[in-house]
Amino acid sequence: MSLFRRKPVRDLQIEAASGQLRRAIGPGNLTALGVGAIIGAGIFVLTGKAAAEYAGPAIVYSFLLAALACAFAGLCYAEFAAMIPIAGSAYTYGYATLGELMAWIIGWDLILEYLFASAAVAVGWSGYVVSLLRDFGIEIPARWASAPYEHVVPADAGWNVWRIFTEGWTTTGAVLNVPAMLIVGLATILLIVGIRESTRFNNLIVAIKLTVILAFIGFGAAYVSAENWQPFVPPAEGDGRYGWGGVVRGAGVIFFAYIGFDAVSTAAQEVRNPQRDMPIGILGSLAICTVLYVAVSLVLTGIVDYRQLGVPDPIAVGIDAAGAELAWLRPVVKIGAVAGLSSVILVMLLGQPRIFFTMARDGLLPPVFGSVHPRYRTPWVASIGTGATAMSIAGLLPIGLLGELVSIGTLFAFVIVCAGVLVLRYTDPEIPRPFRVPFVPVVPILGVGFCLWLMIGLPVDTWARLLVWMALGLGIYFGYGRRHSKLRTAPPA
Ligand code: ALA
Repeated sequence: MSLFRRKPVRDLQIEAASGQLRRAIGPGNLTALGVGAIIGAGIFVLTGKAAAEYAGPAIVYSFLLAALACAFAGLCYAEFAAMIPIAGSAYTYGYATLGELMAWIIGWDLILEYLFASAAVAVGWSGYVVSLLRDFGIEIPARWASAPYEHVVPADAGWNVWRIFTEGWTTTGAVLNVPAMLIVGLATILLIVGIRESTRFNNLIVAIKLTVILAFIGFGAAYVSAENWQPFVPPAEGDGRYGWGGVVRGAGVIFFAYIGFDAVSTAAQEVRNPQRDMPIGILGSLAICTVLYVAVSLVLTGIVDYRQLGVPDPIAVGIDAAGAELAWLRPVVKIGAVAGLSSVILVMLLGQPRIFFTMARDGLLPPVFGSVHPRYRTPWVASIGTGATAMSIAGLLPIGLLGELVSIGTLFAFVIVCAGVLVLRYTDPEIPRPFRVPFVPVVPILGVGFCLWLMIGLPVDTWARLLVWMALGLGIYFGYGRRHSKLRTAPPA
């Protein structure tokens, strides 16, 4: 039964109070951290494809639908993060509610989310940097700025996991995505030097990113032609193209754009007043981004016919369509995108080592991952491990494969967090909850339902990768974690 042994919430609260990490983050910085993690490749890259291929102008509804799923999950995250303000995020919440095995599963799943998200966004960053430098006359050869491997699963592979993994790999002729590796390396160094320096840098970047987005909305609005919104929901063409089916498919694609608000909860141990500030940071950043996404997609589909938006830089296409008067905004947007993507990478790389750190403290990973740097007081070994792995992934693999894996991993984590809130309300109703999810059990149940619905829409090969990743994780748990678990070796009284 030790597999289902739960970590007492009281122990977690004591652990949170006696942390070694520096408590330097306030509510403003925390919300900025959320916005920093959220606005990135989703809005700057994926919006165009989702509008062009699936939803048309109704991509606005896709954004609202995905926001709803995130809002349910966000409320549940906020309840946990205020109640158990500890660095492990959903991993720790799982440990308190669903037991050690489930905690391990979710921790391992979060690695999929953060590690692969930082790599995916680094690849997007590399694309924007190359394009920006080209505008200034500097050419970076494609063979040094793209993935050497591509993967297209054979159409008839079905659920044959072996075929999914072994077939369909081709080389692209590229050597390595050097810019993507570089940005991951730089972000890792910054994170080791200090949490305070990292949040300052993040605030600066968030300011640039918000200015650029607001400029696009403000200047672009004048060029909107209502004809482009007719019909707002284009007639369905089957197979998830347009119509309301397209709105749902679009929501699945742009779900990626919202990922990151949950990363706020990984910084809980470094927040000055977590009980009050965690809900503000999580829900505030989610709300800000929802408003911006809806406004950007309204303006974008109003300026340009949605069919022209299926490109890697849809916002630049929107600006071009507005005419020569707005040409000055083009490089500005690219600079904003480069800055914006950097902060997403930073926050994802901030989250991951803190989960390793917490898992190591619980004995589920070797103690070295839990070591704190004597001077900088950051989990430096875990940061270096994360950075080196993310660098290799970013250097070798294409963005599409990485992005889908991130989405499925994140949705899975959301499902567990929503279920966890519900379970703990019944098993431990007396624990003080500084923030309470309203309308329990409706909100957590809707959260589970919505996230499962979006997961089901993802392709079979992504599911296969998730299952293999999880099998690998279970191997490590039964080979190492289960035997070294602190709960097992020193059970609570
Ligand atoms: N939400 C993040 C992005 O859009 C992951 O890049």
